Amino acid sequence: MSESIIARGSGKKEVYESILDPIHDLLESESDKIANMANLCSVLKDALKFFWVGFYIVKGQELVLGPFQGSLACTRIQFGKGVCGSVWKEKRTIIVDDVDTYPNHIACSNLSKSEIVIPLIQDNEVWAVLDVDSDRLAAFDSTDEHYLSRIVEFLK
Ligand code: SME
Repeated sequence: MSESIIARGSGKKEVYESILDPIHDLLESESDKIANMANLCSVLKDALKFFWVGFYIVKGQELVLGPFQGSLACTRIQFGKGVCGSVWKEKRTIIVDDVDTYPNHIACSNLSKSEIVIPLIQDNEVWAVLDVDSDRLAAFDSTDEHYLSRIVEFLK
């Protein structure tokens, strides 16, 4: 059993920097993708105090809920629907500052105010997305996009 990962630093960038290598080592020590996705959710929620963090995995024509940390979530999302389905379709990260103003948003919790969704791409195909929700407006920016994109690369 690995030791817990301690986040350090006052700013978001410092916190991400402090957990990057330990996350890499943690994920490299285990080959099972689902186990790694589950532990990654736990580490990210603890370190960054996210309201909700989890994966949706491409299964046929829809995204199906995978490992997550947070409150009950919707289980299936269609291609192109919601922020997650749009990220799958467009193969790019989407940041939503205010979910109430995003026309295509799927609300799993009315406490969620802003969101970032990152695609996990292999051989030019999206195989999953990482979805992070905050209970604050405009909680995510290019720093989150940069580090979360690097972190999900460790899952390959
Ligand atoms: N808001 C997402 C749905 C997933 S939940 O936030 C956990 C979306 O619009 O795709």
